[in-house]
Amino acid sequence: MTKKKDIDSHSGTETTGHEWDGIKELNTPLPRWWLWIFYASIAWSIGYWVAMPAWPLISGYTAGILGYSQRAEVIASLADLNAGRQDMAKRLLDWTPGAGPKDDELRDFAFAMGKAAFGDNCATCHGAGAQGAPGLGYPNLNDDIWLWGGTIADIEKTLVVGIRSTHPETRNSKMPAYGKDGLLKPEEINGLTELVLKLSGQAHDPTAAASVEAIFKEQCAQCHAETGKGLREFGGPNLTDAEWLYGGSREAIRTQIINGRAGVMPSWSGRLDPATIKALAVYVHSLGGGE
Ligand code: HEC
Ligand code: HEC
Repeated sequence: MTKKKDIDSHSGTETTGHEWDGIKELNTPLPRWWLWIFYASIAWSIGYWVAMPAWPLISGYTAGILGYSQRAEVIASLADLNAGRQDMAKRLLDWTPGAGPKDDELRDFAFAMGKAAFGDNCATCHGAGAQGAPGLGYPNLNDDIWLWGGTIADIEKTLVVGIRSTHPETRNSKMPAYGKDGLLKPEEINGLTELVLKLSGQAHDPTAAASVEAIFKEQCAQCHAETGKGLREFGGPNLTDAEWLYGGSREAIRTQIINGRAGVMPSWSGRLDPATIKALAVYVHSLGGGE
């Protein structure tokens, strides 16, 4: 049975046949352009399922015939980045700072690499800003006071061999524990404490200080120099400035003479690769006090 088409006389459009209280529902066809986009989208999505990863499975997903994977892209671009880094790291090792047209580029690279490595390896002892821990024996690396030397090469050497570390060529010298090991009498230690206070320009007992001048020359000058200004060959700190590893109070000075603490800085040669160590040396050197 064929139903007769009901054409709306006003618009000339076919109706659906529904009618409420004399109002008829028109069956207006969808515009052509809309239909084409609709069919094209369906075709596109089928093509996409076939070509690209689409459906989740119980373990994994349908990979699609193109085998595209964002993870693979990331891995590939990381590999590129690493290859670039390797190349820069090699150039960094051959680099003599201050020479050549590529200086700035390498310096920036070393600074960035050194800064990251510092946060990972050094900040625990020297502080995130390399400010050190005054009183605990961890030196401030921002200032121009150096126990063992402040050129990039000096710093690099300190990092490679360490200070009183287990490395066979470690920077080494141990201040004797004059009190603990009974090398000096208590009154001599008291006198030396006053003498160190005098050297650093602090209030002191002049008689006590004068009484141990000969002992200072004999016992202390080999590492701290006769002037008390320190000797780098032995990592002996300058006793005449206001910077202290273990503190400049009478009590702190006396404690150091009694105990001779001998702080340890680890050797990094087994733990960090040579390029990272050089980058760290460049970074530390650039913090303000480089020589
Ligand atoms: C376990 C603690 C510790 C860690 C970690 C450490 N240091 Fe040190 N560092 C020390 C101590 C202690 C000294 C001072 C030793 C002394 O009394 O001579 C020192 C000294 C230094 C010096 C010599 C300063 C001078 O005046 O000559 C440099 C440079 C240095 N550290 C850099 C670093 C860098 C860079 C790192 C990270 C790779 C690092 N340190 C990690 C403890 C540490
Ligand atoms: C063998 C070398 C050596 C001799 C000898 C020596 N010192 Fe030291 N002294 C050091 C070193 C190295 C330090 C750094 C701290 C440490 O690692 O113990 C130091 C640190 C100090 C400090 C603390 C400095 C600070 O910044 O906190 C004082 C004070 C001091 N010495 C006084 C003396 C006096 C006084 C004598 C002689 C009785 C003496 N030293 C003999 C090597 C020596």
